[in-house]
Amino acid sequence: MSLDTRAIRASFPSLARTLDGQPYMYFDGPGGSQVPQVVADAMTHSLLHANANGGGAFATSIESDAAVEESRRAAADFTGSLPEEIAFGPNATTLQYLLAHAVARTFEPGDEIITTELDHDSNVSQWLQVGADHGLVVHQARLHRTDGTLDLHHLESLLSPRTKVVAFTLASNHLGTVPPCREIARHAHSVGALAWGDAVHYAPHRRLNRSAMGLDVLLTSPYKWFGPHLGIASIRHDLAVSWPADRVRPADETPAGHRFETGTQSHEAMAGMTAAVDYLASLGDGATRAERLDSAYDRIRVHEDELALRFWNGVEGMDHLTVYGITDPTQFGDRVATFSLTVDGAHPAEVAQRLAQRGMAVWDGNFYALSASIALGLEESGGAIRVGFLHYTTPEEVDRLVAALGELG
Ligand SMILES: Cc1ncc(COP(=O)(O)O)c(C=O)c1O
Repeated sequence: MSLDTRAIRASFPSLARTLDGQPYMYFDGPGGSQVPQVVADAMTHSLLHANANGGGAFATSIESDAAVEESRRAAADFTGSLPEEIAFGPNATTLQYLLAHAVARTFEPGDEIITTELDHDSNVSQWLQVGADHGLVVHQARLHRTDGTLDLHHLESLLSPRTKVVAFTLASNHLGTVPPCREIARHAHSVGALAWGDAVHYAPHRRLNRSAMGLDVLLTSPYKWFGPHLGIASIRHDLAVSWPADRVRPADETPAGHRFETGTQSHEAMAGMTAAVDYLASLGDGATRAERLDSAYDRIRVHEDELALRFWNGVEGMDHLTVYGITDPTQFGDRVATFSLTVDGAHPAEVAQRLAQRGMAVWDGNFYALSASIALGLEESGGAIRVGFLHYTTPEEVDRLVAALGELG
């Protein structure tokens, strides 16, 4: 079965927006997706009807606790984890710092970390900064300049018995590249290092399963997959119970992933996240939420792959465009539907401005994927334009974008 795009779009109020009588088009998904009504309703319900701190004997506290526990189950189903392995935080970057800070206390000066040039800086900078505090050596695996794929030989050459973490993105938020997760995790484990996956860009496009993907730690942000602003970490259980966490004293006994939750969390965001997971699961079939998510992501992938190919077929012959990353359609299985490009003779900020005037939301710059922007020689000239397609994007929107890019020539 394919996705019912018309019904899907009707459930997102923001997709009804227009500019000068024309539909407004959201190609800014890699920066943050739109949100269906059910997510906003769940957050409103949490705030208006179940708003209390946890652990009380009274009804609203009991209801709030129940919603928080349900959000752990939802996040566990979404990431392929146990509810005890989930830690919430304000966003992925803050959780990255917190977890890197905790695990680094178990390392010795001279231990090594590997990151990659494909990574968002939130999966690089915390290792540089925490690494400096603890005397760690931080390496970076190169990407191939030609097609934006990861240079696995280089990554392998950086491994050593002192490697403690291989931190990598599961999908580049700049180029759309999907590196081979299981293979990288295998390399990490072959030297006893942790496989640390940034799933922030991957999660709206492909199904996560932390343990099946061979990951020890995984991070994701629901605001990229139709939910509210929130961060989620999934931490392998034995690590979650053993890493030294920063805790206030009465909270010392808090189990597993929860140990990394400092202070009172955003209960309304957790409720909205649960609704986002249930929304995604509603796009699939199956007996359990996890099975419905499997099926939903199969359908999402078919839809997005068609859009990626349609876009590429549309822009391929345009001489005034340079598209970065994988452009060989036979290799499109190794990318998601996120494209970065430049327009000859036009600054990316100017291109974004011109597309915005036509009701098209696109990002320009380096998208915090600083290493990739530098590696591709884009950083000095304003970076690139990035367009991203999600399951609610239509072929007609892609065609209009292609036409608009054509007219920039
Ligand atoms: C691949 C990737 N990793 C990490 C982040 C940072 O996530 P957050 O905004 O939740 O800190 C982003 C945000 O754009 C991203 O695209």
